[in-house]
Amino acid sequence: MSYYKLFGLEKEPFSTSPDPNFFYNSPSHKTVLKRMEINIRLKRGLNLIFGDVGTGKTTLCRILAQSFEKEHNFMFHIILDPSFKTEFQFLSQLVKIFKLEPDFNSTLDYKEAIEKYLFKAGVEENKTIILIIDEGQKMSLENLELLRTLLNYETNEHKLLQLILMAQVELIPRVNRVRNFVDRACFKYTINPLDEKETKELIEFRLKTAGYSAGRSLFSDGAVKLIYEYTMGYPRRIGMLCHDALTEAVMNEKTLIDGPDIEKLIGEVKFSLA
Ligand SMILES: Nc1ncnc2c1ncn2[C@@H]1O[C@H](COP(=O)(O)OP(=O)(O)OP(=O)(O)O)[C@@H](O)[C@H]1O
Ligand SMILES: [Mg+2]
Repeated sequence: MSYYKLFGLEKEPFSTSPDPNFFYNSPSHKTVLKRMEINIRLKRGLNLIFGDVGTGKTTLCRILAQSFEKEHNFMFHIILDPSFKTEFQFLSQLVKIFKLEPDFNSTLDYKEAIEKYLFKAGVEENKTIILIIDEGQKMSLENLELLRTLLNYETNEHKLLQLILMAQVELIPRVNRVRNFVDRACFKYTINPLDEKETKELIEFRLKTAGYSAGRSLFSDGAVKLIYEYTMGYPRRIGMLCHDALTEAVMNEKTLIDGPDIEKLIGEVKFSLA
């Protein structure tokens, strides 16, 4: 029997997969989503979103695409791993996801085909084409330059490609080396970790979503405080620690997780890292 069933839960509350249903809409995440949505609708071009490891970038990509699901004029394309070695490889991937068939296999032909497609779809067919690139820190300087070229495709009123680049903060020095790139972003945002109150809200939100319905908190305030201090408010770490705490609680037949329980776990992790 899975541990979560013992708590009367229907699903696993602290799974580490980027499931939109288990996404706690913190004020910071809410701001990013709202601003990206507006910028897409206004066709403003480049959105640059940074965030440390495990702050929710990949999940945000999914939620954003999902929120437009019923609007067929918005065409989302997501590149989850942009570690293309050459510009041609990156272009080939774009040609493939836009389902284009350029006349010749050259960089120039591919660029022309993409520009033509963006113009046709965006102007003649009134579609909005959105490219989301996750793991942007894996992009080479050369391919960042290519993104800048794609952003040059525009009409008098708007950009033809809406680009969302999500990346760990280590990309910042590299994007700064691409001339005018950062200046072109209509929105730049760094997702910060959660504060203590938000950490508590995330934990409770996930438990509730998983079906937890006992009248009281499963984690004591002392436990939440320690979880916050140890994880520094990084959502992935919060999830992993809470998962371990629930597993321990089941093994020890406990229905309340308190400070000393978390302390013990943290001690074990520290020990195993030593
Ligand atoms: N706001 C949130 N509410 C609930 N869970 C969250 C939230 N943000 C992130 N998580 C959880 O944290 C984990 C990491 O999220 P995600 O993979 O989206 O982060 P990331 O920023 O893309 O990480 P990486 O930099 O390693 O690619 C996932 O399990 C996700 O469900
Ligand atoms: Mg990610």
